Amino acid sequence: MKETVLSGIRPTGNLHLGNYFGALSKFVRMQDDYNCMYFLADLHALTTHPDPKMLHQNVKNILAEYLAAGLDPDKVTMFVQSDVPEIPELYLLLNMHVGIGELMRTASFKDKARKALGINKNDNESEEDIEKQIIGNETNKRVNAGLLTYPTLMAVDILIQKAHKVPVGKDQEQHLELTRRFARRFNSFYGVDLFPEPENFNFTSHSVKVPGLDGSGKMGKSEGNCIYLIDDEKTLRKKVMRAVTDEGPKVPNSPVSVPVQNLFDLMELTSAPDTLQHFKDAYADCSIRYGDLKKQLAEDILKITLPIRERIMEVRNDDALMGRVLKEGAEKARANAVKTLAEVREVMGIHKFY
Ligand code: TRP
Repeated sequence: MKETVLSGIRPTGNLHLGNYFGALSKFVRMQDDYNCMYFLADLHALTTHPDPKMLHQNVKNILAEYLAAGLDPDKVTMFVQSDVPEIPELYLLLNMHVGIGELMRTASFKDKARKALGINKNDNESEEDIEKQIIGNETNKRVNAGLLTYPTLMAVDILIQKAHKVPVGKDQEQHLELTRRFARRFNSFYGVDLFPEPENFNFTSHSVKVPGLDGSGKMGKSEGNCIYLIDDEKTLRKKVMRAVTDEGPKVPNSPVSVPVQNLFDLMELTSAPDTLQHFKDAYADCSIRYGDLKKQLAEDILKITLPIRERIMEVRNDDALMGRVLKEGAEKARANAVKTLAEVREVMGIHKFY
């Protein structure tokens, strides 16, 4: 039997190159070897109060992007979290075994709570101060309980499918650690072996770094430095041509600045090896023209994204296809979920009398 790989994404915007190289392209490569389940975590998205119309549309958009990138619905299960009502029920049950202290100490919660309260990370507030601000004020409704119990919901997504492997990046590792802890705790409290402990699935030996175009860190939705799969030719070229660089090397074999290294990194992901080498050599002997480098980079990115963009447009208009994929996906996901939930209810003593 194939192992189950499960991953969720919050439908809060379009997919960018970071999502593509970091996850999606690997999901496509895994689809033959594992029982893959990919879902749209719309309930998780609710914690930050998205516009309802946008939320609904984003679910469709991301599904279209998944399909356009090459995920085959005959091989993988794709579903919407809120189509599986067993998830919210298990979330209630599992919460009985989750401590508010451990949830409050979760890094992602503190980040989001800080944001909601308008506290900057470098305001030098101690952890205790932040905790006091979050719970200290009775009238403070800005930090909602859903944000606090986010890790419970994520654990349920994973445990209800009894997934073995969960491919997550650094920012989600703590959540996966909590998932394992909750699974162990539940099993030992009731003396059962119900939930397997999921492991992080590192599908490559080195993690891919996909930098943004603003000369700083990695590509990210909230950084405003993204190239989206859905970007049209003109938009994409413009973005790349405006990418941050530096004044250029003055002496041979100068060290490479971060913004320029970022462009080399993007090129490594998208261009042929000799193209990258050509520009690296040109950098070393000071003959490089960043305009040429950017033109080439835009060209090579477009070779990857344009065909995907075309398919996204097709799939977006194919409501019948998307409906079928999500309906079949929900049926498969629910079949597992119903089974796991029945086991949990039985173990906890809340199964039916009739
Ligand atoms: N919390 C994840 C994120 O923000 C999304 C997510 C929700 C998820 N449930 C999951 C990821 C289950 C993996 C498994 O990226």
